[in-house]
Amino acid sequence: MLVPPASIKNGAITITPETGSKTGKIDSPAADGSGSKSPLEALEERRTVATLGGGAERVEAQHKRGKLTARERLHRLFDDGSFTEIDTFVTHRSTDLGLDRQRFEGDAVVTGFGQVEGRTVFAYAQDFTVLGGSLSLVAAQKISKVMDHAVRTGAPIVGINDSGGARIQEGVDSLAGYGEIFKRNTLASGVVPQITVIAGPSAGGAVYSPAITDFIYMVEGIGQMYITGPDVVKAVTGEEVSHEELGGAAAHASRSGVAHFTAPDEDDCYRQVRRLLSFLPSNNSENAPERPTDDDPERRDASLGSVIPASANQPYNVMDVVLSVVDDGDFLPVHHGFAGNIVVGFAHLEGRSIGVVANQPAVMAGMLDIDASDKAARFVRFCDAFNIPLLTFVDVPGFMPGTHQEYGGIIRHGAKLLYAYSEATVPKMAVILRKAYGGAYIVMSSKELRSDLNLAWPTAEIAVMGPEGAVNVISRREIAAAEDQDAKRAELVADYRDRFANPYIAANRGYIDDVIDPVDTRPMLIRSLRMLETKVDSSPPKKHGNIPL
Ligand code: HXC
Repeated sequence: MLVPPASIKNGAITITPETGSKTGKIDSPAADGSGSKSPLEALEERRTVATLGGGAERVEAQHKRGKLTARERLHRLFDDGSFTEIDTFVTHRSTDLGLDRQRFEGDAVVTGFGQVEGRTVFAYAQDFTVLGGSLSLVAAQKISKVMDHAVRTGAPIVGINDSGGARIQEGVDSLAGYGEIFKRNTLASGVVPQITVIAGPSAGGAVYSPAITDFIYMVEGIGQMYITGPDVVKAVTGEEVSHEELGGAAAHASRSGVAHFTAPDEDDCYRQVRRLLSFLPSNNSENAPERPTDDDPERRDASLGSVIPASANQPYNVMDVVLSVVDDGDFLPVHHGFAGNIVVGFAHLEGRSIGVVANQPAVMAGMLDIDASDKAARFVRFCDAFNIPLLTFVDVPGFMPGTHQEYGGIIRHGAKLLYAYSEATVPKMAVILRKAYGGAYIVMSSKELRSDLNLAWPTAEIAVMGPEGAVNVISRREIAAAEDQDAKRAELVADYRDRFANPYIAANRGYIDDVIDPVDTRPMLIRSLRMLETKVDSSPPKKHGNIPL
């Protein structure tokens, strides 16, 4: 009787005791397809053996490391039973350094397609149980194949990375494989959403495929990304740092900004990826799916009337505004742990997916700095590429001053945000809640950057700079000559505030389309978004622009 070497349920592999030592190696007796079996029996056995990957011991080691296997991961990502694997029988053809004795069905990556909430998504998951998930030429070809399918069929691609990097034995063939993937990541950028999950090591040049994709998830404790590991760091710089400190989820989600999302465990991670996909269109020629809602489009929220504190310098949480305005108070923050002085994320307005950008006065007074500029610019460009309208809430005192920012290149980083808003042709709406000063006023989706509808609350202050700064510049002599300088300054500040720090000068000139009662913000935005539904805009023909990187 045929003894199946393993069974698979819910993506998990159960190894039978009789064959527990078998692996997906094609020279394993169960996989050779010979003997007295019928062709179908041989196929079934061969396929089952392939699912063993590097074998029971390595699967166990994978679980002991706190990691799921590639197929267990894909099972969690896709709708139940919808994952369809392809290239199950691909094997490498290398012979160097003993690789001829290390050949596994499917090699070190599982690839295929399936459904996420009923929509087609392509995916690959590197299989660490086979030669440490290292990238062979054929593994790269498998990944390239699903990426090509994703672009041709207009479906998102999700990559689950867990790999020791380039397969050392394959040398330059492996490097060429990486090149093929990087090129495809680049060509697919702005065509289909690309999402990466880091659920194991991702080291060296291998990190650049994730970096080109739109969103990176890192699983805490098991996902690590770095260009050079702790040993090399120590040898070159003398710094002692652990794998986790150097390239773990916390480091990249809060300090480097490389990761957009973190998850405490893998189950949570794949749930998060599924939720993100629900906000996105499948490709750049579609709109995101609509999400039905019972939230009244005409809902007026009285609490918005008291969000802005009496004093202009007092902080408040801009999330109170965002959550009140969007459907069902449902908001998916992106880059939540990074550059908290600006909030970006996805939500819905009357069922339509939108991208929200909001200065956060509760963090560094909402000032724009290098990280906030990068964070928002990349988000704005993603939304524009994928037909997701933009809603911007403005309360920004200006750009952050200081040598740290200037030497770090705030000029070119801030310019990215200007560039991103200027080039975006999706429907753009902005609401100025309080401060909108100077260059930061222009940057934050001002009318001049092709924004469609710009509203202001009565508390808005739109001017070249804040009253104190302005008076110190233009009335310096008058203040110096006054008997009571403090009183004079206070009087001039009050006068400036009355005359300039309000929304009406901008509204008089049409830079602001209307000044609204805060409680009307949601109905007003929904009516405007309906009006903009059929918006068409374009830019001059060009190969591509030259965004200040
Ligand atoms: C071939 C590899 C491999 C690799 C791991 N393995 N990495 N085989 N090529 N790159 C094999 C191991 O030999 C081992 O096989 C099995 O995978 C599991 O590895 P372990 O070391 O036992 O696992 P662990 O202790 O968890 O450590 C994981 C690791 C470590 C941190 C990833 O394996 C490691 O440091 N690997 C090398 C990483 C590296 O330097 N890669 C090249 C980076 S340069 P056995 O049979 O013993 O179980 C690069 C360039 C890309 O990637 C450039 C793109 C442009």
